[in-house]
Amino acid sequence: MRLRVEDLAVEFPAGRRGTVHAVSGVSFDVARGETLGIVGESGCGKSTTGRAIMQLPRPTAGSVRLDGTELTALRGDRLRRTRRLLQMIFQDPISSLNPRRDVRRIVGEGLRVWGNGNGADRIDEMLVAVGLDPAAVEGRRPHEFSGGQCQRICIARALVLDPEVIICDEPVSALDVSVQAQILNLLEDLKQRYDLTLVFIAHDLAVVKNISDRILVMYLGKTCELASSDALFARPAHPYTRALLASIPKGAPGRAAADPAINREPPSPIHPPSGCRFRTRCPRAEDRCAREEPEMRQVGTAHWLACHFPVTEDAPR
Ligand SMILES: Nc1ncnc2c1ncn2[C@@H]1O[C@H](COP(=O)(O)OP(=O)(O)O)[C@@H](O)[C@H]1O
Ligand code: SF4
Ligand SMILES: [Mg+2]
Repeated sequence: MRLRVEDLAVEFPAGRRGTVHAVSGVSFDVARGETLGIVGESGCGKSTTGRAIMQLPRPTAGSVRLDGTELTALRGDRLRRTRRLLQMIFQDPISSLNPRRDVRRIVGEGLRVWGNGNGADRIDEMLVAVGLDPAAVEGRRPHEFSGGQCQRICIARALVLDPEVIICDEPVSALDVSVQAQILNLLEDLKQRYDLTLVFIAHDLAVVKNISDRILVMYLGKTCELASSDALFARPAHPYTRALLASIPKGAPGRAAADPAINREPPSPIHPPSGCRFRTRCPRAEDRCAREEPEMRQVGTAHWLACHFPVTEDAPR
């Protein structure tokens, strides 16, 4: 197993108001060469999960292992060396690039930090790999490029040190729908070519559907459901997954409409509901859901679920 995350918890102090329970006991594996999608609405802890894998911030509890190495136990130089095998790309490509540096310098940053020389050939290789013409970017800065091109630059920068795992945090959410597919296809190609393992975060199930082998659905810091992409779309069993699926408008990927079932604001992660955290918005909630937290349990081949009253095929939604 390339990446193994167990009982990951991340809390942030919220002053006198208490503690933000951003991620509360999330577990998953990502096999070598696999793409794991992580979805859930804004604020459910997706970015925090991605960043905690990188140990930025350090998890409050739990384990993160990369090829068996426990990252939470590493310090100093060993942590830095291991961390370069993990790279992250972000939602807003333009603001994650230094506006004062030219593109070649940005892409080569990691090479300089790690003392691999200026690596002109490697920079060329990365630019070509992400579909940019090295001659055409010569001497140019990020603001001279479109959002899609800036995301390509970010991807080149992430790849330059030959990482094993790339955590993609909503990499297409800020891009035009027409450009989204190009970037998704690029990530798919690069994954094959460089033998990458991907964690692909999105707030929208439609975006992760095709790129993910398996998908983990998160709600308020917890896992609701984890299944192969096919099973999740064919047999979604968690009421929250159902609501997310219902919010995908037909024929308009990437543009989620509000679903009446989940239209209300989610509760605060400072005071999450007792029992099942989804219960205050769940159409199937019963008394037991407030008393008892649903455990993750296996309901099919590689299909896991945390719900006392899951939706079965013939149940009305
Ligand atoms: N550095 C931080 N300090 C305090 N709260 C934070 C911090 N980072 C994230 N949070 C809170 O943690 C929760 C999860 O945030 P995040 O992981 O960014 O969610 P997502 O990426 O799913 O939108 C949110 O309630 C957010 O406000
Ligand atoms: S455990 Fe209860 S509240 Fe939670 S999703 Fe299932 S039915 Fe809804
Ligand atoms: Mg986020």
